[in-house]
Amino acid sequence: MRLRKTLTALGIMMGMALVSYQGFAADATFPSDWKTWKPVTTAVSQIGGLPGCDADVSGLPPIYQETVATYCAIRPEGPGKAQVLVKPDSLDAYKTRSGKYAKGENFILHLSELKVLFVTGHQGGAPVYGVYTEDGKNITTPTGPLSTKTCITCHSGFTAFCNNGQCGRVMK
Ligand code: HEC
Repeated sequence: MRLRKTLTALGIMMGMALVSYQGFAADATFPSDWKTWKPVTTAVSQIGGLPGCDADVSGLPPIYQETVATYCAIRPEGPGKAQVLVKPDSLDAYKTRSGKYAKGENFILHLSELKVLFVTGHQGGAPVYGVYTEDGKNITTPTGPLSTKTCITCHSGFTAFCNNGQCGRVMK
């Protein structure tokens, strides 16, 4: 009887640990109205998405080479189709790359074949990140390619390329 109680308590604790792990450190929240956001034409959408690891990306700017290197192994053929979605109210700020973005979630890199959303928002004027499934499950991880640390390293690391969290630009 006692053992059973201990086991039950242990089970509940493990369950709680799992729940808090799933919600790990996504600093951007899930924008539930993301399907109404506006697609923009960027380098990634022009290329058609993110390729696999054997693609020759040597002609692309270093930040794109690094992006492919970080995410190409997610599955053998690479992440596949991707597009950038922008919250309608933030379209002007995105197009002009103003760096002045509204509080809340503003941009999505939509990996549509994987049904995954990379979300960038802004809090206190600074960028925040999170990774979600299309139906809102937080799949941000503590370390590795799906961690906010990795997003920050690249989005804030390539200062000449990204402005306050925005890396892409409208291509016409
Ligand atoms: C190694 C570099 C790199 C890493 C790591 C990275 N990104 Fe990006 N990200 C880019 C580049 C480059 C673009 C521009 C793509 C394009 O041409 O539209 C981009 C675009 C985006 C966009 C569309 C808005 C914009 O900035 O243009 C979002 C949203 C985004 N990333 C979120 C994330 C999140 C969330 C993570 C972490 C899970 C992450 N990114 C990790 C390089 C990176």
